[in-house]
Amino acid sequence: MKVLVFNGSPRRGGNTQVLLSAVAKGVESAGGEIEIIRLADLNISPCQSCGGCDKTGICVVKDDMGLLYEKIDQVKRIILASPIYFYGVTAQAKAFVDRSQALWSRKYILKKKGEWRDDADRLGFFVSVAATKGEKVFDGAVLTAKYFYDAIGFGYGGALLVKGVDKRGEMAKAVDRMAQAEEFGRRIVT
Ligand SMILES: Cc1cc2nc3c(=O)[nH]c(=O)nc-3n(C[C@H](O)[C@H](O)[C@H](O)COP(=O)(O)O)c2cc1C
Repeated sequence: MKVLVFNGSPRRGGNTQVLLSAVAKGVESAGGEIEIIRLADLNISPCQSCGGCDKTGICVVKDDMGLLYEKIDQVKRIILASPIYFYGVTAQAKAFVDRSQALWSRKYILKKKGEWRDDADRLGFFVSVAATKGEKVFDGAVLTAKYFYDAIGFGYGGALLVKGVDKRGEMAKAVDRMAQAEEFGRRIVT
C-alpha cells in the first residue's frame, strides 16, 4: 500500500522531516511504499475564493496543486504533516488544505458521478510537532486536518503528535517518540 505524505514544514532537516523519516521506516518495514512531498518546494497559491470550483469541481488556479489533486486520487493513505505555527498548521500546509476546496465542491456541491468517491477504505492521518507542551497546542491543527480529510473524502485515521521539540536535531534525540513513529508507520499500512 502506498502512503502519500504532504510535509508542510519549510525547515530542511527539521523535526517534522526527522519524525517522518521514522514513519517511513515503519511503512517500509511493513511492506508499504511512501512518497514524501515537501510543500515548500512547490508553487501552491492560496485559494482566491473565486467560486470557480463550485461550478466545475476544478480549481481555476493553474499551479503545482494540479498534480497533487491527481496524486490524492490514486492513494488510500495520506499523511498531512506540519509543525505548529501559532496554534495552527504552517502557511504552506494551509494553502494546500484550502485548495482542496475544489474536492469539497465536487463532494458537497456537484456530487458528480465518477469524479467523486467517498471511500471508507481511504484514510488520512495527521503528524505534527510543537515546541511547547500546552494542553491545547495541537487542537486547532487537528481540527483543520479532520475537516480536510472530510472534504477530500477520506476517513480520519488519527494523529501522531510530539510536544516539546523546537531546535533542529531535537526530534532525533527523542528516541522513544521515534520508535513510536515507526510503529505508527507500520500501523497505517497494516
Ligand atoms: C512562525 C513560527 C510559529 C510557531 N508557533 C508555535 C506555536 O504556536 N506553538 C508551539 O508550540 N510552537 C510553535 N513554533 C515552534 C515550532 O512548532 C517548532 O520549532 C517545531 O519543532 C518546528 O518543526 P520543523 O523543524 O519541522 O519545522 C513556531 C515556530 C515558528 C517558526
